[in-house]
Order: sequence, then structure tokens, then C-alpha cells
Amino acid sequence: MRDLGRRLAKLLRAGDLVLLSGELGAGKTTLTRGLGEGLGVRGAVTSPTFVIARVHPSLGDGPPLVHVDAYRLAGGLDEMEDLDLDVSLPESVVVVEWGEGKVEELAEDRMHVDIHRAVGDTTDEVRHVTVRGMGARWAGAELGSLSA
Ligand SMILES: Nc1ncnc2c1ncn2[C@@H]1O[C@H](COP(=O)(O)OP(=O)(O)OP(=O)(O)O)[C@@H](O)[C@H]1O
Ligand SMILES: [Mg+2]
Repeated sequence: MRDLGRRLAKLLRAGDLVLLSGELGAGKTTLTRGLGEGLGVRGAVTSPTFVIARVHPSLGDGPPLVHVDAYRLAGGLDEMEDLDLDVSLPESVVVVEWGEGKVEELAEDRMHVDIHRAVGDTTDEVRHVTVRGMGARWAGAELGSLSA
């Protein structure tokens, strides 16, 4: 999951929105950790307990990573705007866990990463990942090979 995050990071640039779906413990934060490594941002990507969003500034001249855990974000986007992140979302890569149905208005162009645990998998360690691009930003992009 972390390695996939690193690979996805190579495709991302300022203004991109990534929505991560998958049940509790699917690996959303782990993938975001890889994204942070791939983007070269400061600070460890962790699962925020009380914080809804965390900004990881770039260690170089790349965009910051804004990591949002929308699990407790009942009000959706309005609440997100109230977070006062002190960073411009269009100049950042914004990654949202549990964002489906809440933050789509942020951008017409979105990358969706859906993580599924294999049903009936006794080892419980296998994940199936689907990467989809929505909107003009991702039209023609070959994302299928990133699904695994
Ligand atoms: N592909 C994988 N195989 C085995 N373990 C994994 C895999 N991906 C993640 N994990 C492990 O599963 C646990 C939960 O991962 P993680 O915190 O990334 O999930 P999450 O989707 O962010 O969960 P939450 O819904 O609570 O935010 C971690 O201990 C992580 O190391
Ligand atoms: Mg998480």
C-alpha cells in the first residue's frame, strides 16, 4: 500500500484531489504515508485521532500534502472550509480518507482509490485496489495499470 502510494505520488501535482475509500483498516493512511514519501513532504503521515486535517509542507519545491480524515466530518465541505488550514487547496495535493459523499464539490477532477479486502480471504492481508480518474485532468491517463 505504501509502495502504491509512492508510485501514485509521481502522477500528482498541485491542485489534485485524491479520494480514498475502503473500510476501517483497509490501508488508506498507509497509502497516504507512501504518497507523502513520494511527494517528499515533511512530517510522518499518521492516523489523526482528533485532528481532521494535517498539512505536510514540501521539503523541496513541490506542493504540500493536505491529509484529511473526513470520518468525523459530518458537515462535509462547509466544515472543511472552516478548518482554516492556512494553505491554499488549489496549490496543494489534497488526500481525503472517508471523503465520498462529502468533499466531491472541491474539484471536478478527482482521483478515486478504492481499497477492498478480498472476501473470504483467510489471511486477511490481501487488498484489491482500483484507481480511477474523474474529469478532464485524468482523461486519457493510463491509471488501470496502477490497480492491483
Ligand atoms: N496491504 C496490506 N496488507 C497488510 N496489512 C496492511 C495493508 N495495508 C495496510 N495494512 C495494515 O492495516 C492497518 C490499518 O491500516 P491503515 O491505518 O492504513 O488503514 P485505514 O484505511 O487508514 O484505516 P481507518 O479507516 O481507521 O482510517 C495498519 O496496521 C497497516 O499496517
Ligand atoms: Mg486512516
